[in-house]
Amino acid sequence: MIAGGRPLSGRVRVGGAKNAALPILGATLLTGEPCTVRDLPNLTDIDVMRNILRALGARVEVFGSSTTVEAKHLTSQTVPEHLMREMRSSIIVMGALLARFGRVKVSQPGGCAIGSRPIDLHLKGLKELGAEITERHGYIIAECDRLRGASIHLDFPSVGATENIMMAATLAEGQTVITNAAKEPEIVDLQNFINSLGAKIKGAGTDTIRIEGVEKLHGADYSVIPDRIVAGTYIIAGAITGGNIVVENVIPEHLDSLLAKLREMGVELDVKGDSVAVSAQHPLRAIDSLRTLPYPGFPTDLQAPMMALLCLASGTSIVTETVFESRFKHVDELRRMGANIKVNERTAVIKGVPTLSSATVAATDLRAGAALVLAGLAADGITIVEDVHHIYRGYDNLEDDLRSLGARIERIGG
Ligand code: EPZ
Repeated sequence: MIAGGRPLSGRVRVGGAKNAALPILGATLLTGEPCTVRDLPNLTDIDVMRNILRALGARVEVFGSSTTVEAKHLTSQTVPEHLMREMRSSIIVMGALLARFGRVKVSQPGGCAIGSRPIDLHLKGLKELGAEITERHGYIIAECDRLRGASIHLDFPSVGATENIMMAATLAEGQTVITNAAKEPEIVDLQNFINSLGAKIKGAGTDTIRIEGVEKLHGADYSVIPDRIVAGTYIIAGAITGGNIVVENVIPEHLDSLLAKLREMGVELDVKGDSVAVSAQHPLRAIDSLRTLPYPGFPTDLQAPMMALLCLASGTSIVTETVFESRFKHVDELRRMGANIKVNERTAVIKGVPTLSSATVAATDLRAGAALVLAGLAADGITIVEDVHHIYRGYDNLEDDLRSLGARIERIGG
Protein backbone atom coordinates (compact mmCIF):
# COMPACT_ATOMS: atom_id res chain seq x y z
CA MET A 1 0.00 0.00 0.00
CA ILE A 2 1.51 3.36 -1.07
CA ALA A 3 0.36 6.85 -0.10
CA GLY A 4 1.89 8.74 -3.03
CA GLY A 5 2.42 12.35 -4.05
CA ARG A 6 5.46 13.11 -1.86
CA PRO A 7 8.95 13.90 -3.22
CA LEU A 8 11.58 11.45 -1.92
CA SER A 9 14.69 12.70 -0.17
CA GLY A 10 17.68 11.15 1.58
CA ARG A 11 20.24 8.44 0.78
CA VAL A 12 19.81 4.77 -0.09
CA ARG A 13 22.42 2.02 -0.59
CA VAL A 14 22.15 -0.65 -3.30
CA GLY A 15 22.94 -4.33 -2.56
CA GLY A 16 24.57 -7.10 -4.60
CA ALA A 17 23.37 -7.93 -8.12
CA LYS A 18 20.84 -10.79 -8.46
CA ASN A 19 21.87 -11.43 -12.06
CA ALA A 20 25.54 -11.73 -11.09
CA ALA A 21 24.84 -13.79 -7.96
CA LEU A 22 22.74 -16.47 -9.72
CA PRO A 23 25.36 -17.57 -12.31
CA ILE A 24 28.17 -17.21 -9.74
CA LEU A 25 26.34 -19.51 -7.30
CA GLY A 26 25.88 -21.92 -10.23
CA ALA A 27 29.61 -21.73 -10.97
CA THR A 28 30.49 -22.96 -7.45
CA LEU A 29 29.59 -26.41 -8.86
CA LEU A 30 32.76 -26.25 -10.97
CA THR A 31 34.97 -27.06 -7.97
CA GLY A 32 34.89 -29.48 -5.04
CA GLU A 33 36.50 -26.93 -2.75
CA PRO A 34 34.51 -24.46 -0.61
CA CYS A 35 33.56 -21.11 -2.18
CA THR A 36 32.30 -18.11 -0.20
CA VAL A 37 30.20 -15.60 -2.14
CA ARG A 38 29.52 -12.26 -0.41
CA ASP A 39 27.12 -9.29 -0.81
CA LEU A 40 24.32 -11.62 -1.92
CA PRO A 41 20.89 -9.95 -1.99
CA ASN A 42 18.21 -11.56 0.19
CA LEU A 43 15.81 -12.61 -2.62
CA THR A 44 13.54 -15.59 -3.30
CA ASP A 45 15.50 -16.30 -6.52
CA ILE A 46 18.72 -16.60 -4.49
CA ASP A 47 16.97 -18.95 -2.03
CA VAL A 48 15.81 -21.09 -4.98
CA MET A 49 19.36 -21.29 -6.34
CA ARG A 50 20.69 -22.32 -2.91
CA ASN A 51 18.00 -25.00 -2.69
CA ILE A 52 19.00 -26.30 -6.12
CA LEU A 53 22.63 -26.63 -4.94
CA ARG A 54 21.42 -28.45 -1.81
CA ALA A 55 19.21 -30.75 -3.91
CA LEU A 56 22.30 -31.68 -5.94
CA GLY A 57 24.10 -32.62 -2.72
CA ALA A 58 26.26 -29.54 -2.14
CA ARG A 59 26.82 -28.24 1.40
CA VAL A 60 25.37 -24.70 1.54
CA GLU A 61 25.69 -22.43 4.58
CA VAL A 62 24.29 -18.93 4.87
CA PHE A 63 25.81 -16.24 7.09
CA GLY A 64 23.87 -13.02 6.49
CA SER A 65 24.73 -11.81 2.98
CA SER A 66 27.51 -14.42 2.60
CA THR A 67 26.94 -17.98 1.43
CA THR A 68 29.50 -20.79 1.46
CA VAL A 69 29.03 -23.65 -1.01
CA GLU A 70 31.03 -26.91 -1.00
CA ALA A 71 30.14 -29.07 -4.01
CA LYS A 72 32.56 -31.83 -3.04
CA HIS A 73 30.24 -34.84 -3.12
CA LEU A 74 27.25 -34.24 -5.36
CA THR A 75 24.57 -36.90 -5.00
CA SER A 76 22.55 -35.99 -8.09
CA GLN A 77 22.85 -34.25 -11.43
CA THR A 78 19.13 -33.67 -11.79
CA VAL A 79 17.66 -30.25 -11.05
CA PRO A 80 14.28 -30.92 -9.33
CA GLU A 81 11.37 -29.99 -11.59
CA HIS A 82 9.57 -27.85 -9.00
CA LEU A 83 12.68 -25.70 -8.57
CA MET A 84 13.05 -25.31 -12.36
CA ARG A 85 9.45 -24.14 -12.46
CA GLU A 86 10.03 -21.67 -9.65
CA MET A 87 12.89 -20.02 -11.49
CA ARG A 88 13.64 -20.61 -15.18
CA SER A 89 17.11 -19.14 -14.87
CA SER A 90 18.09 -22.26 -12.90
CA ILE A 91 19.02 -23.52 -16.38
CA ILE A 92 22.28 -21.73 -15.57
CA VAL A 93 23.60 -24.78 -13.67
CA MET A 94 23.67 -26.93 -16.83
CA GLY A 95 27.09 -25.84 -18.05
CA ALA A 96 28.82 -26.31 -14.69
CA LEU A 97 27.24 -29.72 -13.96
CA LEU A 98 28.07 -30.96 -17.45
CA ALA A 99 31.69 -29.79 -17.16
CA ARG A 100 32.23 -31.27 -13.68
CA PHE A 101 30.26 -34.53 -13.88
CA GLY A 102 29.62 -35.17 -17.59
CA ARG A 103 25.85 -35.35 -17.05
CA VAL A 104 22.97 -33.03 -16.23
CA LYS A 105 19.18 -33.46 -16.32
CA VAL A 106 16.86 -30.47 -16.24
CA SER A 107 13.21 -30.01 -17.08
CA GLN A 108 12.22 -27.77 -19.98
CA PRO A 109 12.11 -24.33 -18.29
CA GLY A 110 8.61 -22.87 -18.45
CA GLY A 111 8.11 -19.61 -20.26
CA CYS A 112 7.20 -16.67 -18.10
CA ALA A 113 5.31 -13.39 -18.13
CA ILE A 114 7.80 -11.74 -20.46
CA GLY A 115 7.89 -14.30 -23.24
CA SER A 116 8.54 -17.92 -24.22
CA ARG A 117 12.28 -17.64 -23.45
CA PRO A 118 13.65 -20.65 -25.32
CA ILE A 119 17.05 -22.13 -24.49
CA ASP A 120 18.05 -23.21 -28.02
CA LEU A 121 21.24 -21.11 -27.92
CA HIS A 122 22.29 -22.75 -24.62
CA LEU A 123 21.80 -26.26 -26.05
CA LYS A 124 23.46 -25.42 -29.38
CA GLY A 125 26.56 -24.17 -27.55
CA LEU A 126 26.76 -27.22 -25.26
CA LYS A 127 26.36 -29.52 -28.30
CA GLU A 128 29.22 -27.72 -30.05
CA LEU A 129 31.35 -28.47 -26.96
CA GLY A 130 30.60 -32.17 -27.49
CA ALA A 131 27.55 -32.83 -25.32
CA GLU A 132 24.90 -35.38 -26.37
CA ILE A 133 21.52 -33.74 -25.75
CA THR A 134 18.27 -35.73 -25.57
CA GLU A 135 14.88 -34.22 -24.86
CA ARG A 136 11.99 -36.43 -23.73
CA HIS A 137 8.97 -36.30 -21.43
CA GLY A 138 9.66 -32.60 -20.76
CA TYR A 139 13.20 -33.28 -19.58
CA ILE A 140 16.52 -32.37 -21.21
CA ILE A 141 19.48 -34.66 -20.58
CA ALA A 142 23.00 -33.58 -21.58
CA GLU A 143 25.88 -36.05 -21.36
CA CYS A 144 29.51 -36.20 -22.45
CA ASP A 145 32.76 -37.89 -21.43
CA ARG A 146 34.91 -34.79 -21.70
CA LEU A 147 33.87 -31.51 -23.29
CA ARG A 148 36.17 -30.28 -26.04
CA GLY A 149 36.84 -26.57 -26.74
CA ALA A 150 35.13 -25.13 -29.83
CA SER A 151 34.46 -21.87 -31.66
CA ILE A 152 30.87 -20.90 -30.86
CA HIS A 153 28.99 -18.03 -32.51
CA LEU A 154 25.81 -16.93 -30.76
CA ASP A 155 22.97 -15.94 -33.11
CA PHE A 156 21.86 -13.50 -30.37
CA PRO A 157 24.03 -12.18 -27.50
CA SER A 158 22.05 -14.20 -24.94
CA VAL A 159 23.17 -13.54 -21.35
CA GLY A 160 22.28 -17.01 -20.07
CA ALA A 161 23.69 -18.86 -23.07
CA THR A 162 26.98 -16.93 -22.79
CA GLU A 163 27.18 -17.82 -19.08
CA ASN A 164 26.33 -21.51 -19.56
CA ILE A 165 28.88 -21.93 -22.36
CA MET A 166 31.55 -20.05 -20.39
CA MET A 167 31.09 -22.37 -17.42
CA ALA A 168 31.06 -25.55 -19.51
CA ALA A 169 34.18 -24.46 -21.43
CA THR A 170 36.11 -23.80 -18.19
CA LEU A 171 36.86 -27.52 -17.72
CA ALA A 172 36.74 -28.55 -21.41
CA GLU A 173 39.83 -29.78 -23.27
CA GLY A 174 41.49 -26.99 -25.25
CA GLN A 175 40.36 -23.48 -26.14
CA THR A 176 36.82 -22.20 -26.63
CA VAL A 177 36.03 -18.90 -28.35
CA ILE A 178 32.54 -17.40 -28.00
CA THR A 179 31.73 -14.71 -30.58
CA ASN A 180 28.73 -12.38 -30.45
CA ALA A 181 28.82 -13.01 -26.70
CA ALA A 182 26.65 -10.96 -24.31
CA LYS A 183 28.62 -8.04 -22.79
CA GLU A 184 26.62 -7.41 -19.59
CA PRO A 185 28.60 -6.45 -16.44
CA GLU A 186 27.27 -9.64 -14.81
CA ILE A 187 29.20 -11.65 -17.43
CA VAL A 188 32.39 -9.81 -16.44
CA ASP A 189 31.63 -10.57 -12.77
CA LEU A 190 31.15 -14.26 -13.59
CA GLN A 191 34.48 -14.31 -15.51
CA ASN A 192 36.23 -12.68 -12.53
CA PHE A 193 34.71 -15.20 -10.12
CA ILE A 194 35.61 -18.25 -12.20
CA ASN A 195 39.14 -16.89 -12.76
CA SER A 196 39.44 -16.56 -8.96
CA LEU A 197 38.87 -20.36 -8.90
CA GLY A 198 41.92 -20.76 -11.18
CA ALA A 199 40.25 -20.69 -14.61
CA LYS A 200 41.65 -18.91 -17.66
CA ILE A 201 38.94 -16.74 -19.22
CA LYS A 202 39.50 -13.49 -21.10
CA GLY A 203 37.33 -11.00 -22.96
CA ALA A 204 34.12 -10.89 -20.90
CA GLY A 205 32.52 -7.49 -21.48
CA THR A 206 33.44 -7.65 -25.17
CA ASP A 207 31.69 -9.69 -27.87
CA THR A 208 34.53 -12.25 -27.96
CA ILE A 209 35.34 -14.41 -24.94
CA ARG A 210 38.26 -16.88 -24.90
CA ILE A 211 38.39 -19.75 -22.42
CA GLU A 212 41.44 -22.03 -21.96
CA GLY A 213 40.15 -25.30 -20.47
CA VAL A 214 41.83 -26.42 -17.21
CA GLU A 215 41.81 -29.76 -15.36
CA LYS A 216 40.68 -28.67 -11.94
CA LEU A 217 39.66 -25.58 -9.99
CA HIS A 218 40.13 -24.55 -6.33
CA GLY A 219 37.89 -22.57 -3.95
CA ALA A 220 37.57 -18.78 -3.59
CA ASP A 221 36.12 -15.94 -1.53
CA TYR A 222 34.32 -13.44 -3.76
CA SER A 223 31.99 -10.40 -3.53
CA VAL A 224 29.44 -9.80 -6.29
CA ILE A 225 29.01 -6.40 -7.99
CA PRO A 226 26.20 -3.97 -7.01
CA ASP A 227 22.84 -4.40 -8.72
CA ARG A 228 22.58 -1.91 -11.59
CA ILE A 229 18.88 -2.60 -12.12
CA VAL A 230 17.97 -1.94 -8.48
CA ALA A 231 20.17 1.19 -8.63
CA GLY A 232 18.37 2.33 -11.80
CA THR A 233 14.98 1.68 -10.22
CA TYR A 234 15.87 3.87 -7.20
CA ILE A 235 17.25 6.63 -9.43
CA ILE A 236 13.94 6.64 -11.33
CA ALA A 237 12.07 6.72 -7.97
CA GLY A 238 13.88 9.99 -7.18
CA ALA A 239 12.97 11.41 -10.59
CA ILE A 240 9.32 10.29 -10.68
CA THR A 241 8.56 11.89 -7.27
CA GLY A 242 10.33 15.16 -8.20
CA GLY A 243 12.60 14.46 -5.26
CA ASN A 244 16.22 14.88 -4.28
CA ILE A 245 18.02 11.62 -3.36
CA VAL A 246 21.48 10.02 -3.41
CA VAL A 247 21.81 6.37 -4.50
CA GLU A 248 24.99 4.78 -3.08
CA ASN A 249 27.11 1.72 -3.97
CA VAL A 250 26.61 2.17 -7.72
CA ILE A 251 29.06 1.49 -10.58
CA PRO A 252 28.04 4.52 -12.69
CA GLU A 253 29.33 3.22 -16.03
CA HIS A 254 26.94 0.27 -15.70
CA LEU A 255 24.11 2.82 -15.98
CA ASP A 256 25.41 5.06 -18.79
CA SER A 257 22.41 4.40 -21.06
CA LEU A 258 19.86 5.13 -18.30
CA LEU A 259 21.64 8.28 -17.10
CA ALA A 260 21.83 9.59 -20.67
CA LYS A 261 18.09 9.11 -21.20
CA LEU A 262 17.20 10.67 -17.84
CA ARG A 263 19.35 13.73 -18.68
CA GLU A 264 17.47 13.97 -22.01
CA MET A 265 14.29 14.27 -19.92
CA GLY A 266 15.75 17.05 -17.78
CA VAL A 267 16.59 15.01 -14.67
CA GLU A 268 19.64 16.42 -12.85
CA LEU A 269 22.22 13.72 -12.11
CA ASP A 270 25.47 14.27 -10.27
CA VAL A 271 27.80 11.26 -10.35
CA LYS A 272 30.44 11.25 -7.58
CA GLY A 273 32.50 8.06 -7.18
CA ASP A 274 30.04 5.25 -6.40
CA SER A 275 27.09 7.56 -5.72
CA VAL A 276 24.52 9.19 -8.01
CA ALA A 277 22.67 12.29 -6.77
CA VAL A 278 19.26 12.66 -8.45
CA SER A 279 16.97 15.70 -8.50
CA ALA A 280 14.05 16.50 -10.75
CA GLN A 281 11.37 19.14 -11.18
CA HIS A 282 8.23 18.13 -13.06
CA PRO A 283 7.20 18.31 -15.81
CA LEU A 284 10.08 16.40 -17.39
CA ARG A 285 10.54 16.15 -21.16
CA ALA A 286 9.35 13.10 -23.13
CA ILE A 287 11.83 10.89 -25.04
CA ASP A 288 11.34 10.64 -28.83
CA SER A 289 12.66 7.10 -28.99
CA LEU A 290 13.79 4.60 -26.38
CA ARG A 291 14.88 1.13 -27.57
CA THR A 292 15.91 -1.63 -25.20
CA LEU A 293 19.04 -3.43 -26.42
CA PRO A 294 21.66 -5.87 -25.15
CA TYR A 295 24.30 -4.16 -22.97
CA PRO A 296 25.55 -1.44 -23.25
CA GLY A 297 22.20 -0.42 -24.78
CA PHE A 298 19.25 0.56 -22.61
CA PRO A 299 18.49 -2.45 -20.33
CA THR A 300 15.21 -4.28 -20.90
CA ASP A 301 14.95 -4.72 -17.11
CA LEU A 302 14.53 -0.94 -16.73
CA GLN A 303 11.99 -0.58 -19.53
CA ALA A 304 8.95 -0.87 -17.23
CA PRO A 305 10.30 1.46 -14.50
CA MET A 306 11.24 4.00 -17.20
CA MET A 307 7.77 3.75 -18.75
CA ALA A 308 6.23 4.74 -15.42
CA LEU A 309 8.34 7.90 -15.51
CA LEU A 310 7.50 8.62 -19.16
CA CYS A 311 3.77 8.49 -18.30
CA LEU A 312 4.26 11.82 -16.51
CA ALA A 313 6.65 13.50 -18.99
CA SER A 314 5.27 16.34 -21.11
CA GLY A 315 5.00 15.14 -24.72
CA THR A 316 4.94 11.79 -26.48
CA SER A 317 7.53 9.06 -25.96
CA ILE A 318 8.03 5.94 -28.05
CA VAL A 319 9.44 2.81 -26.36
CA THR A 320 10.51 -0.26 -28.35
CA GLU A 321 11.22 -3.53 -26.50
CA THR A 322 13.65 -5.38 -28.78
CA VAL A 323 14.91 -8.03 -26.30
CA PHE A 324 11.77 -9.86 -25.11
CA GLU A 325 8.69 -10.60 -27.18
CA SER A 326 6.02 -9.55 -24.68
CA ARG A 327 7.31 -7.34 -21.93
CA PHE A 328 4.46 -4.79 -21.83
CA LYS A 329 2.21 -6.49 -19.24
CA HIS A 330 2.56 -3.40 -17.02
CA VAL A 331 0.85 -1.18 -19.64
CA ASP A 332 -2.71 -2.24 -18.75
CA GLU A 333 -1.99 -1.66 -15.07
CA LEU A 334 -0.49 1.79 -15.70
CA ARG A 335 -3.57 2.63 -17.79
CA ARG A 336 -5.70 1.86 -14.72
CA MET A 337 -3.80 4.71 -13.06
CA GLY A 338 -4.69 7.13 -15.86
CA ALA A 339 -1.67 6.63 -18.12
CA ASN A 340 -2.16 7.22 -21.86
CA ILE A 341 -0.29 4.38 -23.60
CA LYS A 342 -0.91 2.60 -26.90
CA VAL A 343 0.90 -0.65 -27.71
CA ASN A 344 1.51 -2.12 -31.14
CA GLU A 345 3.55 -5.38 -30.97
CA ARG A 346 6.94 -4.38 -29.51
CA THR A 347 6.33 -0.62 -29.55
CA ALA A 348 4.51 1.50 -26.96
CA VAL A 349 3.49 5.13 -27.54
CA ILE A 350 3.19 7.04 -24.27
CA LYS A 351 1.44 10.41 -24.18
CA GLY A 352 2.41 12.19 -20.95
CA VAL A 353 -0.40 13.11 -18.53
CA PRO A 354 -0.15 15.73 -15.75
CA THR A 355 -0.83 13.27 -12.94
CA LEU A 356 -1.46 9.57 -12.38
CA SER A 357 -4.40 8.56 -10.19
CA SER A 358 -4.03 6.01 -7.41
CA ALA A 359 -5.69 2.63 -8.01
CA THR A 360 -5.45 -1.06 -7.19
CA VAL A 361 -3.07 -2.70 -9.66
CA ALA A 362 -1.32 -6.09 -9.99
CA ALA A 363 2.33 -6.94 -10.57
CA THR A 364 2.91 -9.41 -13.43
CA ASP A 365 6.70 -9.77 -13.23
CA LEU A 366 9.40 -8.32 -11.01
CA ARG A 367 10.22 -5.24 -13.06
CA ALA A 368 6.57 -4.52 -13.93
CA GLY A 369 5.83 -4.70 -10.19
CA ALA A 370 8.61 -2.21 -9.46
CA ALA A 371 7.20 0.11 -12.14
CA LEU A 372 3.79 0.06 -10.44
CA VAL A 373 5.35 0.93 -7.08
CA LEU A 374 7.09 3.88 -8.75
CA ALA A 375 3.79 5.01 -10.31
CA GLY A 376 2.14 4.69 -6.87
CA LEU A 377 4.83 6.90 -5.34
CA ALA A 378 3.97 9.61 -7.88
CA ALA A 379 0.16 9.28 -7.81
CA ASP A 380 -1.87 11.21 -5.24
CA GLY A 381 -3.83 9.01 -2.85
CA ILE A 382 -3.50 5.35 -1.90
CA THR A 383 -2.29 2.84 -4.50
CA ILE A 384 -2.48 -0.87 -3.77
CA VAL A 385 -0.06 -3.12 -5.68
CA GLU A 386 -1.08 -6.78 -5.55
CA ASP A 387 0.93 -9.97 -6.26
CA VAL A 388 4.05 -8.34 -4.80
CA HIS A 389 5.74 -11.75 -4.54
CA HIS A 390 6.98 -11.00 -8.05
CA ILE A 391 8.76 -7.92 -6.71
CA TYR A 392 10.57 -9.85 -3.97
CA ARG A 393 12.30 -11.91 -6.65
CA GLY A 394 14.41 -8.89 -7.58
CA TYR A 395 14.20 -6.32 -4.76
CA ASP A 396 15.17 -7.39 -1.28
CA ASN A 397 14.50 -4.21 0.66
CA LEU A 398 12.10 -2.22 -1.45
CA GLU A 399 9.73 -0.94 1.24
CA ASP A 400 12.46 -0.29 3.84
CA ASP A 401 14.65 1.47 1.27
CA LEU A 402 11.81 3.63 -0.07
CA ARG A 403 10.57 4.36 3.48
CA SER A 404 14.08 5.53 4.37
CA LEU A 405 13.67 8.03 1.52
CA GLY A 406 10.42 9.31 3.02
CA ALA A 407 7.93 7.17 1.09
CA ARG A 408 4.72 6.12 2.87
CA ILE A 409 4.69 2.46 1.87
CA GLU A 410 3.97 -0.73 3.72
CA ARG A 411 3.36 -4.39 2.95
CA ILE A 412 -0.13 -5.52 3.90
CA GLY A 413 -1.55 -9.02 3.84
CA GLY A 414 0.29 -12.18 2.73
C1 EPZ B 1 19.00 -12.47 -18.26
O1 EPZ B 1 17.99 -13.37 -18.68
C2 EPZ B 1 18.48 -11.82 -17.00
N1 EPZ B 1 18.26 -12.85 -15.98
C3 EPZ B 1 17.17 -11.09 -17.30
O2 EPZ B 1 16.77 -10.44 -16.10
C4 EPZ B 1 17.44 -10.03 -18.36
O3 EPZ B 1 16.22 -9.40 -18.70
C5 EPZ B 1 18.05 -10.71 -19.61
O4 EPZ B 1 19.23 -11.45 -19.23
C6 EPZ B 1 18.42 -9.69 -20.68
O5 EPZ B 1 19.33 -8.78 -20.15
C7 EPZ B 1 19.32 -13.34 -15.30
O6 EPZ B 1 20.46 -12.95 -15.52
C8 EPZ B 1 19.03 -14.37 -14.25
P1 EPZ B 1 18.75 -13.75 -22.60
P2 EPZ B 1 18.28 -14.44 -19.87
O7 EPZ B 1 19.17 -15.18 -22.73
O8 EPZ B 1 19.66 -14.95 -19.74
C9 EPZ B 1 16.14 -15.03 -26.33
C10 EPZ B 1 15.29 -9.74 -14.45
O9 EPZ B 1 14.34 -8.96 -14.52
N2 EPZ B 1 16.85 -16.32 -26.22
O10 EPZ B 1 19.75 -12.67 -22.88
O11 EPZ B 1 17.15 -15.39 -19.89
C11 EPZ B 1 15.16 -14.86 -25.18
O12 EPZ B 1 13.93 -15.47 -25.50
C12 EPZ B 1 15.51 -10.80 -15.52
O13 EPZ B 1 16.18 -9.73 -13.55
C13 EPZ B 1 16.66 -17.28 -27.22
O14 EPZ B 1 15.92 -17.06 -28.18
O15 EPZ B 1 18.18 -13.47 -21.14
C14 EPZ B 1 15.02 -13.37 -25.06
O16 EPZ B 1 14.07 -12.90 -26.00
C15 EPZ B 1 14.35 -10.85 -16.50
N3 EPZ B 1 17.29 -18.47 -27.11
C16 EPZ B 1 16.41 -12.86 -25.47
O17 EPZ B 1 17.06 -13.94 -26.15
C17 EPZ B 1 18.12 -18.77 -26.07
O18 EPZ B 1 18.70 -19.87 -26.03
C18 EPZ B 1 17.27 -12.43 -24.30
O19 EPZ B 1 17.42 -13.54 -23.46
C19 EPZ B 1 18.31 -17.78 -25.06
C20 EPZ B 1 17.67 -16.57 -25.17
